[in-house]
Amino acid sequence: MIEQDIEIILAAGIKAPSADNSQPWQYEFDGHNLKLWADKKRSGGISDERYVLTDLALGATIENMCIQASALGYTTNVSYFPDELQVMHVATLSWVVSESQDSQLAQAIPRRHCDRRFPWKGPVTKEHKLALVQQARKFQHTDLLWLDAPEKRRIGLALLAQAEALRFRTQALHQELFSSIHFEIGWKKIAPEGLSPATLAIESLVRPIFSRLKSWSLMKKLAFLGMDKMLGFRAAALPARLAPGLCILTTRSIDRTGVIDAGRALQRVWLQATHEGLSAQPFAASGIYTLGFIPLSKEALPQLKSMKDLMKSLCGEQHGLLVLRIGFAPATSPPKSGRRPLEAFLKP
Ligand SMILES: Cc1cc2nc3c(=O)[nH]c(=O)nc-3n(C[C@H](O)[C@H](O)[C@H](O)COP(=O)(O)O)c2cc1C
Repeated sequence: MIEQDIEIILAAGIKAPSADNSQPWQYEFDGHNLKLWADKKRSGGISDERYVLTDLALGATIENMCIQASALGYTTNVSYFPDELQVMHVATLSWVVSESQDSQLAQAIPRRHCDRRFPWKGPVTKEHKLALVQQARKFQHTDLLWLDAPEKRRIGLALLAQAEALRFRTQALHQELFSSIHFEIGWKKIAPEGLSPATLAIESLVRPIFSRLKSWSLMKKLAFLGMDKMLGFRAAALPARLAPGLCILTTRSIDRTGVIDAGRALQRVWLQATHEGLSAQPFAASGIYTLGFIPLSKEALPQLKSMKDLMKSLCGEQHGLLVLRIGFAPATSPPKSGRRPLEAFLKP
């Protein structure tokens, strides 16, 4: 493969989304094969038990590379977990020359971003919805369910509100969330990894209060007064309620390869949305908690049971992984998350 092409493919991989912009992967390239590793330092946190968030991000990275390679005229062979003893060696990719195709999605790779502003405009048409479903179904076990019926929407919003509130009521989850936000850079600059405050779309008046909530002792007191629910509503349920489209990405397989495929499906859905001019924001908390891998405290167990029931009534025997709100955002572009340079992704 031409050196310039591999650089373009690796750069496309880096543009993939990841929970809290953690960018939890590393590259090892020997001139022919690319080993893709989960980055030990950037994965395995409390919300990432069993590497579900990491595997979703690595799936998105793999898909970006496959789509970019295809546009350059290569077919990508992907082999998952080629070494059974190395759980962090997620995949090996190799390329053979072929016809170039799939450039529509490739063109969307640099434009795709997470937009947290709201409200968004519609309509999200039947044709849009079908195009996104078709992308989600490119993998054996994945699907995209639209929450169009009023009852499904009501359940979806209740689920989002409960799951997001829990992030502000549980010390370990609160610390994980706030430690990924780089308050130290202020509300204008963009950090190369993690969440830059500028990308959070928090109203100017609320910013000083929000940054003080980093203190668990303060958050704990305020949660006692119901602030956790208010934050959950503002962070997820309200933007989702005002979104013209709400859907949930599901999988029938939650082993690690099933989750990686779901990450690939997520990326295809998101790129297709970008191609259609639609914005998207994923919400991971409800899927992550209801999968049941996270060691939640005893006090959270009744809440977890309630969330599992809501998720089951939405997805039946499938597992809901991410809720996505979809719609047309304002024409102006929001501040975009940063990325580390390519060299920082190379495994030492
Ligand atoms: C697995 C996964 C989970 C995510 N969960 C959330 C979430 O719960 N809330 C949110 O606002 N963004 C979520 N995101 C979006 C990321 O925060 C976003 O992709 C990242 O900050 C990089 O920004 P970009 O998508 O604009 O490149 C998630 C992304 C992924 C891949």
